[in-house]
Amino acid sequence: MVDFDNLPFGKVFTDHMLICEYKDGNWGEPEILPYGPIPMTPALHALHYGQAVFEGMKAYRKVDGTVSIFRPEANFNRLNRSAERMTIPTVPKEIFMDGLVELIKLDYDWVPFGENLSLYIRPFLYASSEFIAARPSDSYVFCILLSPSGPYYSGSVKVKIEERYVRSADGGVGFAKAAGNYGAAFYPTRLAQQEGYTQIIWTDHKNHHLIEESGTMNIAVVIDGVFRTPALSERILAGITRDSILTLLNDQNFPIKEGPITVDELVTAAREKRVSEMFGMGTAAVISPISHLGFRDEVIEIPTPDNGLSALVKKSLTDIRLGKVEDTFGWMY
Ligand code: COI
Repeated sequence: MVDFDNLPFGKVFTDHMLICEYKDGNWGEPEILPYGPIPMTPALHALHYGQAVFEGMKAYRKVDGTVSIFRPEANFNRLNRSAERMTIPTVPKEIFMDGLVELIKLDYDWVPFGENLSLYIRPFLYASSEFIAARPSDSYVFCILLSPSGPYYSGSVKVKIEERYVRSADGGVGFAKAAGNYGAAFYPTRLAQQEGYTQIIWTDHKNHHLIEESGTMNIAVVIDGVFRTPALSERILAGITRDSILTLLNDQNFPIKEGPITVDELVTAAREKRVSEMFGMGTAAVISPISHLGFRDEVIEIPTPDNGLSALVKKSLTDIRLGKVEDTFGWMY
């Protein structure tokens, strides 16, 4: 029995999944199957070389009882940008969008209702050929799973500025949602967790002077009353939540600066109490307030006001998602 009042993140799956295979240069007919194991060979290409990409998006049950998906076309576009970088054939739009809609219609009753609840949607694409040569696979599988979910983080998070390991580099795959980007982050993240942190803040690969992103989220900080977030680059994932928050803040004429944030500037501002808030932005993480910033041996407390900017932005997003206010940006599909 699923306890809808205590939904974990990404552990409960709905009754169905969508599968579509790519073979001999063509995508086949998508199929909706009962959720369950996928037969596979131990020589499955993706297991050996990590040729796999994924997406994360959400559908919401609105106050009128209907269901909408938040900005699915943005995720579709990003999936295909990731696929291109990983030499994976792009997915046709109708397979992605029509498949998604059919699947959600079928598992409609699984979409939970509540301020912090949603149907997390996990589309992914992986190399499925049975051979061990290190070259791109000949066949691929596109799959969509649905998972009614609660919040990713419970409460605020503690982050540590990472100065040894890197997530991405110029010319690398940091902008892509490549499976290996996440797998490679586990080790440095675990080291930070052993020190009591929740996540790390990645810094640039050249000299660790620039703030980039945090774990599974883009990063935002309010310094001297200005909303600051690093500009996108080929090293940073183009977050759809990040983009939506920038759009909302622009619309409200909030002062915004998208551009470099140095470690020195952030740490100095935090020490001088000029950081009024800091938070992560992501599909899974939504808006996750940051309560502690670790830099080397120092831990600096960051305010997490109940009525601060992050709470206001979160409310604006939630109101649109749950259909409590008009969707003036045309985000709900
Ligand atoms: C998402 O925010 O959807 C993500 O992809 C993060 C995930 C690794 C949990």
